[in-house]
Amino acid sequence: MRGLVGACAILLAVLAASGCGTVGLSEAGDGNAASGKPLFTQKCGSCHVLADADTQGQIGPNLDDAFLQSRADGLGESTIQSVVRGQIEYPVQEPSTGSPGMPGPDTLLPECTEGREDEPRGCVADQDEAAEDIAAYVASVAGKPTAGAPASGADPGGSTPKVGAGGGPDGEAIFADAGCGGCHVLEAAGASGNVGPSLDESKPSKELVIERVTKGLGAMPSFADSYSPDEIAAVADYVVSATGR
Ligand code: HEC
Ligand code: HEC
Repeated sequence: MRGLVGACAILLAVLAASGCGTVGLSEAGDGNAASGKPLFTQKCGSCHVLADADTQGQIGPNLDDAFLQSRADGLGESTIQSVVRGQIEYPVQEPSTGSPGMPGPDTLLPECTEGREDEPRGCVADQDEAAEDIAAYVASVAGKPTAGAPASGADPGGSTPKVGAGGGPDGEAIFADAGCGGCHVLEAAGASGNVGPSLDESKPSKELVIERVTKGLGAMPSFADSYSPDEIAAVADYVVSATGR
């Protein structure tokens, strides 16, 4: 937690020294938190815990914990928003520790290339605007207690069951909710993550999806605490049908 305060100070200094470019502190306050929430779930949730978004990613720091201290230290929402905005723009992509870093903005928020065949997957109309919206959303909720959810150490079992059209679990909704797309390409889901293999290319069997989602492997977390075996089977069916295996 102390690390964040240090990081903030450095970040603010960098922003000030760089003349800010498009990422000025003066921009804090712009950004639409309501549009930022679904973007956060899709683009950031696979690596970060944030109770309000019900995301459980473990690769990056828990953002509720990270900003709880900042709030206690009296940092205002606009400052937190600037810190998040700066982090999206200038993440540590390859930490010296060798652990996985945070991808840069062109990976997380590629801009759509209107009318072109090779449209980046999961692309956004305007990268700056998407980043502002996400930053506004995170600043509005991180480190605040949410109704019914603890601010940290959130109980993953508490996620709402996703029910599909047929009455069984909805694999597509679970894929989105679990943040699979933050780490995997799956064109049918508009997912463009590149931490794990492209599911369109690897076309995993149902058994392999169930195995990985249940147990995890390497940088892929286990989802056994978050989803029931039925829900995991549903997401596996979804991946298999979406990749046209
Ligand atoms: C592939 C995993 C990954 C994704 C996706 C990701 N992050 Fe991160 N994030 C990290 C890692 C690892 C760190 C710690 C290293 C660093 O500071 O850059 C981090 C650090 C942060 C921090 C600083 C927290 C602190 O305690 O200093 C913030 C804020 C943040 N991320 C926000 C976001 C937002 C917003 C998104 C979505 C646009 C996002 N992250 C997407 C992995 C990720
Ligand atoms: C934080 C990143 C991350 C998240 C979130 C994530 N995965 Fe993965 N996934 C990986 C990585 C990395 C691998 C490669 C593991 C290895 O082989 O070492 C992987 C492997 C896989 C594989 C095996 C692919 C192959 O061909 O070997 C499948 C299937 C898979 N993931 C499905 C999912 C599904 C479904 C979800 C959501 C419930 C999900 N993943 C969430 C990172 C992630």
